[in-house]
Amino acid sequence: MSTADTPRLDAAALRADFPILEQTIGGERLVYLDSGATSQKPRAVIDAEVAFLTHANSAVHRGAHTLAAEATELYEDARATVAGFVGAEAENLVWTSGATAALNLVAYAIGNATAGRGAPASTRFALHPGDELVVTETEHHANLIPWQELAARTGAVLRHIPVRDDGTLDLDAAASVIGDRTRVVAFTHVSNVLGIVNPVADLVALARAVGALTVLDACQSAPHLALDLPALGVDLAAFSGHKMLGPFGIGALYGRTEVLEALPPFLTGGSMVTTVTLDEADFLPPPQKFEAGTQPVSQTIALAEAVRYLDRLGMDAVHAHESVIERRMMAGLREIPGVRLLGDAAGAERVGIAAFDVAGVHAHDVGQFLDARGVAVRVGHHCAKPLHARFGLTASVRASTSVFTTEDDVDALLDGLAGVRAYFGVES
Ligand SMILES: Cc1ncc(COP(=O)(O)O)c(C=O)c1O
Repeated sequence: MSTADTPRLDAAALRADFPILEQTIGGERLVYLDSGATSQKPRAVIDAEVAFLTHANSAVHRGAHTLAAEATELYEDARATVAGFVGAEAENLVWTSGATAALNLVAYAIGNATAGRGAPASTRFALHPGDELVVTETEHHANLIPWQELAARTGAVLRHIPVRDDGTLDLDAAASVIGDRTRVVAFTHVSNVLGIVNPVADLVALARAVGALTVLDACQSAPHLALDLPALGVDLAAFSGHKMLGPFGIGALYGRTEVLEALPPFLTGGSMVTTVTLDEADFLPPPQKFEAGTQPVSQTIALAEAVRYLDRLGMDAVHAHESVIERRMMAGLREIPGVRLLGDAAGAERVGIAAFDVAGVHAHDVGQFLDARGVAVRVGHHCAKPLHARFGLTASVRASTSVFTTEDDVDALLDGLAGVRAYFGVES
């Protein structure tokens, strides 16, 4: 379907689905432009979690009573629903507490393989001193520090693919950084600062050519783009419920079957074993192998409701709507004197995230100035310090959109910003 044929969302009407947006901030209409940090939740999602806790609350699996059976069914249905949302099968989706947990799971599982733990098949993941792990300069700390730590524990070397001045990845450099020693290529689908969609197919092709494992951080793509993770060809991918209209405390790790089967577990304990003696344990097959302990059941049910909500809107319609909003936002920001956009690559595929610096005004001051007008934006390094350093900054302002973001919201941001430098006495 071409963009012209894609149905548009009525974002103004959708606002009514999000109870939090009914409130005013200091007497001003709430303009929530911080969905990149966490999205707001539609009433259906809140209701689904409350309904589960009210009528079906129970720990899942192995209970002999009615509630346990009902909770288990809802929990496994939620897994199938969320897996389907990213084009996957239920057995390829591991519940985690969020994307940070999912990415750490992978790094620690590789560390365990390196330490000789796991089935014979896991030796393919074992790292040796001098082996290389590759990330990009655009990573959120959640997809950077776990690899730094893994390198420190194993003697592997961490390398990175640089970002160009316009915010796109330097693919020529990627082709020389990814080489015979590369064992893992971990990269974000969409930068949480730049909003630019990275070239997954190119990076997967480079990684595959040298037999490296690919790990995708899909946190900022899952809420905004129709995803088919198996079709993207990545081995593993992480995403986060609270950024895609779902609750806190739930996320997922997608993995290709043979990869999940071969990786050793990270956390161990109850609910992930077959036999246990005082000396050793055997593990269930994936995904349960990676789900030690009592799981956040009500959050899985609410996340499934969130993806049903997104499915009803249609992810093509979501992307088309947010693209219109994003273009209006970027065009308006470019016109404001003193505003410098980070990663303003011409023609780049983007989601509705714009980060910028206002010359002469600290990001925190910009944030407070906008907040006084009811406009909620993010300020700081957005957990991407190396990327900010690359652009010569320690902090920026970030506006990010969701399905309920309207053109009026963007105009409120732009109107506010138009006056910020004068307010702080900075010359235009
Ligand atoms: C690109 C990216 N990766 C990872 C994370 C961490 O996600 P979570 O909050 O689920 O741990 C975030 C959250 O800000 C993010 O934007």
